[in-house]
Amino acid sequence: MTRSLFSDDAVRMDLLRERAFNLRWAQLPAGVIPLTAADPDFPVCPAIREQLAGYAAEGVLSYGPPEGLPRFREAVAGWMRGTRQMECTPEMVFATDSAASAMAVVARAGLQPGDEVLMPAPVDFLLHHTVQRAGAVPVRVNVTRDTSADEFIAGLEAARTTRTRMLWLCNPHNPLGVVYSRQWLRTVAEWALGRGLRILADEIWSDIVYEPFRHVSVAALSPEIASSTVTVYGFSKNFALAGLRIGCIVCSDPEWRKEIVTASDAESTVYGTSVLSQVAVIAALHDGREWLGQFIQHLKCQRDYVVQRLSHWPGIDAKPPQGTYVIFPGITSLDDDAERLCDRLREQARVVLVPGAPRWFGAGSAGHVRICFATSRGILQEAFDRMEPVVRELAASRR
Ligand SMILES: Cc1ncc(COP(=O)(O)O)c(C=O)c1O
Repeated sequence: MTRSLFSDDAVRMDLLRERAFNLRWAQLPAGVIPLTAADPDFPVCPAIREQLAGYAAEGVLSYGPPEGLPRFREAVAGWMRGTRQMECTPEMVFATDSAASAMAVVARAGLQPGDEVLMPAPVDFLLHHTVQRAGAVPVRVNVTRDTSADEFIAGLEAARTTRTRMLWLCNPHNPLGVVYSRQWLRTVAEWALGRGLRILADEIWSDIVYEPFRHVSVAALSPEIASSTVTVYGFSKNFALAGLRIGCIVCSDPEWRKEIVTASDAESTVYGTSVLSQVAVIAALHDGREWLGQFIQHLKCQRDYVVQRLSHWPGIDAKPPQGTYVIFPGITSLDDDAERLCDRLREQARVVLVPGAPRWFGAGSAGHVRICFATSRGILQEAFDRMEPVVRELAASRR
């Protein structure tokens, strides 16, 4: 019998316990299930493994060019044109050693101490962390799953000052799971351009989108919007390459791109991206499309399963995410304090979730937990089987 790429036995627990860090298996006592960092439990696609091994076996591992291998830049540009109709040439692509450092480089290139950056709240901690590390100030504008473009703009307008320089967006949105529509993005992007603000679009999640939703890249909206936008893209979520630390920036404005490359220090080799990591991406983008399609199918089933299991948690209203492989239900019917709920689930169910706390998602995340479902059905089922009695007991104690 051939085993499916995403069957229960495809998960290599022996290797995850040794290799999966960042709040996951290798950092937790045996028997504890992490539904924490958004990093899949499955091995990467066979094409990546084969081509990476083949390249390494040939034994020539010289310096690459500062902006990235030509084949890497061509592969990303082709992917951007093919999957999201973005006008993208290889020259616009700059390889970075992760999406996280792509954001950091953009921040260093364009922000002065005291500059302000508008961003949604909640959102993944990396956005505010990165702005702060550049000496600038993150200014948060509250959003929910249902915030319309006009409502968001009203919040942006109220938060804007003379120090505002950029608008940072996350689409699809981690942790809300929203996939923004073309119209939503266009309205918001035009508002930003009208105020002379540049946009950073964190689109690392853009391949993990469920029908009928479709990802629209901000930079694909119009040439004018593209020239004021940098797209941050990565390979940790779609192709499970987090450990290879690889991502990229797409920037159509040559001046801005130059500033970004200079700020990175790649030309002096102080900064750079491993050629092996780039080779993995070339393999993924050329030969990983079918694997990605199957991964999304699996994730969609997992998402529906999580929503169905959460529907049995008293008072929980969990809407299915439109994209990403995280879900962010409100849990105040169980406990007003998400940290306390997570501690309890960890102790009593031996399952770890991420609490909606400012250090992870900024303001507006209290009263929620984030659950990652990029694992096998067996593991997810076990996690929910263990959490359910704890949750029921909690709900009963609040009545
Ligand atoms: C919204 C968002 N941006 C960026 C990143 C960072 O990705 P990378 O592993 O490429 O640094 C993550 C990872 O969780 C993320 O969720």
